[in-house]
Amino acid sequence: MGDVMKLSSRLQAALYYCSGCESLADVGSDHAYLAIAAVKSVVSKAVAIDNKNGPYQKAVRNVRRHELSNRIRCSLSEGIEDIDEDTDVIAVCGMGGMMIVAILEKGASFIARKKPSLVLQPNNATSAVRQWLDSHDYHVLSETIVEERGQDYDCLHAIPKKQPSQLSPREILHGPVLLKERSEPFIRRLLRMVEVKKKALMEINKERIKEIIRLKEEILDLEDILDDCKTTV
Ligand SMILES: C[S@@+](CC[C@H](N)C(=O)[O-])C[C@H]1O[C@@H](n2cnc3c(N)ncnc32)[C@H](O)[C@@H]1O
Repeated sequence: MGDVMKLSSRLQAALYYCSGCESLADVGSDHAYLAIAAVKSVVSKAVAIDNKNGPYQKAVRNVRRHELSNRIRCSLSEGIEDIDEDTDVIAVCGMGGMMIVAILEKGASFIARKKPSLVLQPNNATSAVRQWLDSHDYHVLSETIVEERGQDYDCLHAIPKKQPSQLSPREILHGPVLLKERSEPFIRRLLRMVEVKKKALMEINKERIKEIIRLKEEILDLEDILDDCKTTV
């Protein structure tokens, strides 16, 4: 039956968001761990896509080792160009937010036509991902901060919007669901951001007036969110 595989907490969050779907496209799958875990637990089939030969070969080996070649197709291809027509969930995890946006943008016509769920785990620039989702009629249904080896990762689950809506700049920056849920990791992140910005403010050249004003506004905004968090604890 193939050996047991321990999924990282980052990929476990992504896996959780794939539940309820049938056909997964894991873009940038590398080792194909997500696709393997998904067909073993939540989806019927998957395509594990990577655009580099080394990761692609790793995926092929792992899929064979788990005896899942009949349910997981490995593809050496770019973004979502070799996606299955019946794909109802696309996962793009473990890369920079701008790279995720570039993949979504290239696949925008498929996404607009088939309206799959999107499971996205950017390592940075999450606000750019939220901006893309919002302007392509996707609604952030869930988002979570997963801690792994001392590093925080955002994981987003987005579905097509049911009615027209638009995220505010604050929601784009900090996350509409994170702002509502006010989880401990989210509050810790805000406190860290305040600390970093206050330090920058102390060290900045006093002639850089515009930057000083911007930093002060950003600190006030963060403190405002933190105050809201306190009032509901
Ligand atoms: C850091 S790994 C992440 C692996 C896995 N998704 C995870 O979260 O653990 C990123 C993978 O994405 C692949 N990749 C980057 N850009 C891609 C693209 N445009 N299309 C397909 N694969 C891509 C890389 O080759 C690499 O194997």
